[in-house]
Amino acid sequence: MALHAHDEVVLLLGAPGAGKGTQARVLAGLLGIPHVASGDLLREHRQRGSDLGRAAQVIMDRGDLVPDDLVVEMILERLSRPDAERGALLDGFPRTLAQAEALDSRLAERGGRVRAAVYVDVPTDVLIERLAGRWMCRSCQASFHQRFNPPARARVCDGCGGELYQRPDDRPEVVANRVNVYLRDTLPLVERYQSRGILRRVDGNRPIETVRTSLREALGLTEVAGMPA
Ligand code: AP5
Repeated sequence: MALHAHDEVVLLLGAPGAGKGTQARVLAGLLGIPHVASGDLLREHRQRGSDLGRAAQVIMDRGDLVPDDLVVEMILERLSRPDAERGALLDGFPRTLAQAEALDSRLAERGGRVRAAVYVDVPTDVLIERLAGRWMCRSCQASFHQRFNPPARARVCDGCGGELYQRPDDRPEVVANRVNVYLRDTLPLVERYQSRGILRRVDGNRPIETVRTSLREALGLTEVAGMPA
């Protein structure tokens, strides 16, 4: 998919565990724009012990949403960096109507827009199994699954060699709250982008490579002789 204007962004929407992070790393590379994941940025703040990280910690660990003003400020700062001049693939943001409106205003100021929103659709019972078996890299935040996407060496990231750990918010009782919060606050955004005619739906309940192929098709990313178009 060719991005034309300054600041065009592509959204990856989906429930916790839908596979957004797994797919976004590859898709962003194909699109030639950075992968900006609000959850990854918040976890980086926590590791650094910043004011934002400390404020977010308890909220994240119980599976609730960090207040809109804090998350919006964090994302707009990230989008203002030079590597995001052409746009970004946003994963996990926006998650509320207020966040979606803040994003639209900021893009409009700079002649940009949300170019496409892709919704990765996965049934709730599958989400719980995925998150219970997830292992995440402490360094680069790549995710693996003990059964569906195992690392070559136990507890070691294939990409950067970092240590793999299980997220505190992947405990079953927290996952249940995250899914409920998602259904209440974030799922309505799917309708917002549907009514604008920019929503593409992809069945995320298939093997990782199959979902990836559908996402590429949804974004018009075709492959020629092994190279992205
Ligand atoms: P965040 O980190 O964004 O978590 P999330 O949206 O809940 O998403 P996940 O990272 O859990 O899932 P994913 O879809 O990326 O799945 P993955 O690819 O890893 O947010 C964490 C917290 O931060 C929130 O709860 C909130 O507190 C806060 N926050 C973040 N953004 C915010 C915002 N905008 N506003 C307010 N608060 C915010 O895959 C999951 C597992 O499944 C992995 O093990 C993977 O290997 C496996 N898998 C992936 N695809 C497949 C497949 N097709 N088949 C089988 N297994 C698969």
